[in-house]
Formats: sequence, structure tokens, C-alpha cells
Amino acid sequence: MGKKIWFLTGNLGKVKEAQQHLHKLGYEVEQLVIDEEISEPQSDNLQSVAQAKITQALPYLPNDDDMLLVEDAGLFVEHLNGFPGVYSAYVLKTIGCNGILKLLSHLESEDPVMNGQMRKAEFQSIAALWNGDKIIFGNGKCPGWISQQIDGEGGFGFDPIFIPFDLDVIGNPLTAGNYGETSTHGATFAAVELEKKQLFSHRMRALNEIISQL
Ligand code: IMP
Repeated sequence: MGKKIWFLTGNLGKVKEAQQHLHKLGYEVEQLVIDEEISEPQSDNLQSVAQAKITQALPYLPNDDDMLLVEDAGLFVEHLNGFPGVYSAYVLKTIGCNGILKLLSHLESEDPVMNGQMRKAEFQSIAALWNGDKIIFGNGKCPGWISQQIDGEGGFGFDPIFIPFDLDVIGNPLTAGNYGETSTHGATFAAVELEKKQLFSHRMRALNEIISQL
């Protein structure tokens, strides 16, 4: 059995993604649930938010030899100057995916390349891992665009309205309208298998950056 990582999150979708990815690399991932409220400082600095969460959760780590993971993500829509960004969770709860579609409804074209440019958006993730000694940070981005309608039933959060840009042969994202080795062929994250989402995912990139420092 590999080394254990406790993932402090209320989101089971995230736990599933981290488990699937990190298991292959020899780590066991489990959700850490804490009864105490973990306060999240209102800050646009995702790194200091992650650090504050780790400090609060460390006393609840079941075993001193285990590691502790926190992760924060957001959807940044270019035409909306990065909104909802750090407010993504609140926006999902209030106006939801349909609200974002409405905010962009005037930006629709018959031409998919134009849509990719006008409706450009990016997921960003910052993950922080306490390795028993210090905190290691990892960042990940996933560029793409906002679909014209809800598509798919899988995933979570904004997955039903996010289509990633294709990836080139070494897995780097291309720009709107460029066809690459890896593609969802216009499907959103919610309409593809989890294995496929992982190839593009901001979260996987952030986790990989951490694992490479262990
Ligand atoms: P959190 O603060 O990291 O939990 O994420 C902020 C918001 O972005 C939440 O509402 C999530 O559902 C959403 N979100 C985070 N990661 C993803 C993702 O990979 N796909 C879709 N939505 C996401």
C-alpha cells in the first residue's frame, strides 16, 4: 500500500479525481472530513487560502506519517474579466451554469472557432500538500471555452459548460480552433469519461507539479 494522502474537501467529485490519478502513482487518497468549521480567508491569493486551510486542518490528521492535501479551483471567463474566478463556488450556487450561459448569450456564432475565441475561459487550480515536513504547492491551468448549452451528466460544478482546447502530442493545450492529438471533439467535461477529463484537467496538472517535488 502506498503512502496515504488525506484530501480536505467536501467535494466527492474532487476526491474521485485525485484518487484515480494518484493511485496510479502509488498513493492512497482518502477524504478528510472535519466537524469543526474550517474558515477560508477572503483573499484573491489562492496560495494563502490553501496555507490557512492546511494550518487549521493539521491537528485533525489521523496519523503523523500521513500527508494532507487541500485544493482550490475556479473558472475564469475572459469576456467577464475573469469572473467568477475566486467567487466560483458562490456563483455556481446562485446563478449556476445557466447563469453563466446567459451572461455570454450575446456571444454566439455559427463558427465554432469564433465561439472558442469569444467564449474563452480557463480553469485554474492551486493545490497544497503538507508532506509531514513542509507545504508543497502546485498550480494547474486548463484553457478552453464555454459551450452554448448544458451538455453531459458527468463531472461536477461547471463541467457541463466547459469545453477544453485540444492538446498537442506532448499534452500541452493549443488555442481556439487548432486540432490536436487529444480532443473532446467539442464535448464538455461533463460529457466525456473521467479518464479523458484527467488528460486536460487543471487539478491533475497541479497534483503532478506537487508529486514531482516529493
Ligand atoms: P472550489 O472552491 O475549489 O471547491 O471550487 C470553486 C467552484 O468551482 C466550485 O463550485 C466547483 O464546483 C467549481 N469547480 C472546481 N473545479 C472544477 C472542475 O474541475 N470542474 C467544474 N467545476 C469545478
